[in-house]
Amino acid sequence: SHQKYIRNFSIIAHIDHGKSTLSDRLLEAIGLLKDKSSEQVLDSMEVEKEHGITVKAHTVTGFYKAQDGNTYQLNFIDTPGHVDFNYEVSRSLKACEGVLLVIDATQGIQAQTLSNFYLALEENLVIIPVINKIDLPSAHIDMVKEQIEKDLGLDPAEALLISAKTGLGIDTVLEAIVQRIPAPKGDIHSPLRALVFDSYYDSYLGVVAKVRVFDGSIKKGDAITFMLSQKNYQVEEVGYTQIKLVPQSELRAGKVGYITAAIKSISDFGVGDTITWTNKPCAEPLPGYKEVKPYVFAGLFPAEGEDFEDLHEALMKLKLNDAALTFEKWNSAALGMGFKCGFLGLLHLQIVQERLDKEFDLAIITTIPSVEYRITLSDGSIMMIESATELPDQSKIRQIEEPFVLSHIILPNEYLGAILQLIQDRRGIQRNMIYIDTDRVEIIAELPLAEIIYDFYDKLKSFSRGYASFDYEFLEFRPSEIIKLDILVNGKVVDALAQMVHKDTAYERGRSVVTRLKDLIPQHLFVIPLQAAIGSKIIARETIKALRKDVLAKCYGGDITRKRKLLEKQKEGKKRMRTIGNVDIPQEAFIEVLKRG
Ligand code: GTP
Repeated sequence: SHQKYIRNFSIIAHIDHGKSTLSDRLLEAIGLLKDKSSEQVLDSMEVEKEHGITVKAHTVTGFYKAQDGNTYQLNFIDTPGHVDFNYEVSRSLKACEGVLLVIDATQGIQAQTLSNFYLALEENLVIIPVINKIDLPSAHIDMVKEQIEKDLGLDPAEALLISAKTGLGIDTVLEAIVQRIPAPKGDIHSPLRALVFDSYYDSYLGVVAKVRVFDGSIKKGDAITFMLSQKNYQVEEVGYTQIKLVPQSELRAGKVGYITAAIKSISDFGVGDTITWTNKPCAEPLPGYKEVKPYVFAGLFPAEGEDFEDLHEALMKLKLNDAALTFEKWNSAALGMGFKCGFLGLLHLQIVQERLDKEFDLAIITTIPSVEYRITLSDGSIMMIESATELPDQSKIRQIEEPFVLSHIILPNEYLGAILQLIQDRRGIQRNMIYIDTDRVEIIAELPLAEIIYDFYDKLKSFSRGYASFDYEFLEFRPSEIIKLDILVNGKVVDALAQMVHKDTAYERGRSVVTRLKDLIPQHLFVIPLQAAIGSKIIARETIKALRKDVLAKCYGGDITRKRKLLEKQKEGKKRMRTIGNVDIPQEAFIEVLKRG
């Protein structure tokens, strides 16, 4: 059958172990990427290039003439490696029969190698271990093979040895894909069952849905129904993606590709939905995705001069391929109408913020991110809040609970002391410590989510010279002594800067926030007092000195073009500011104040 020559696979790995580089080599090998200068084509979003990480999963179809003389259609999907984006990985895996599990020969198995491995195992996929970077002198191939046997329970003899950088061993990867990953097994004669695993909005085509056809077939003109949203459409185009969209006459069972159907109303379109024929529907939809629960919440507000409706539209379009993003309308005293949005982590928030800027040309203000808190009121009722401004009056509160996570940290022994200290500083509780082998240890610790969302990952990396890796999962809500910290700028409480803090760290946090704000808010023509307060008690203060007028005059000088340029630059910068009580607060201020020195 036609399915015999199809292979659907994904590449999974710990961050920086070489997925993108391997993807490029595979694309080259199948003739999709000829120019070496256009490296890392799969990281096509501008934001990804800047962060150097893969955020969105991409699907690419190529053709490969195998040693057995047959030509195979290879559909492969790039997956992100950052701990914030595990949900994207499981999404991609649902469209595959097998995965390449890339392991850096110099680093061995890391926390996300394990978590990705388990995701693939859950989906019953064939797993091909690939040891990468064997060109490096510090490669420890035998050590990694041992870990593959011990930690993953896979046969180390099956591991492929490659260098994605030099291209060494890429041919063995292609052959392994063809020989070890099974062909898809859909029933072409059954009614259509296709899983929507990704989508994006194109201004000409409308929604472009990335689909995996499990049963039946889909072609132009078909009347289709999205089973979960119960929406009907007529298919306009189907095809596969080769960097660009390549239209085909039909997508049959087993294939991965895209469909368009002039879907313009994006609000009722969902990733994870099943597409079927309207007139001859399949019996059951495919198992969709686990609803992803956001962990971190922040207000997003249009910056000066931007439109609320534009922001609403942009968020809906972003949600098309970012199912984890949630948003609801939110009214802030300081910032006006905006949205309270849910994110998987701080990196996710920053990426959304950057995508709004780069892809939609929208400047926005992000308020202080917060986790969710569970509040028990005096009358016994329970409410969840996602921002300090929603905290009810102290007199009405019986108990506040904060989310805890269970984290797994893998690191070389020599950094153990530093990392245990970091865990303790972040109110963590060490639960277990396992010596994995002679020089690596795994720490299992319970940590308050609020203490890790901001800069824990960065700190972990810098305290271990890049060697520690971590992963976490939600554990439970626990009673905690949390209080609200208010920030006053120029004598006014700024609701968007209020935050929930632990009692023991309130003073330190208050001081650190006003000190940071002092650096972040530019000087004005008047003096700006900055204060941190708990209730009516001021616990820290700083002052931003007034800008002297003559300094301004001198810096502009007499050169009129230079002056105009400066003014234009100032206007540009202004886009990312909000004026609160006469004071211009730059966008970065709201997130930067949370980072600790
Ligand atoms: P994310 O997309 O961020 O998850 O990273 P990734 O896993 O895709 O890693 P990427 O391909 O970006 O590679 C990370 C770094 O390792 C880059 O600097 C690559 O140039 C380098 N690298 C990848 N493969 C090899 C290899 O075989 N040998 C050597 N020496 N370096 C490699």
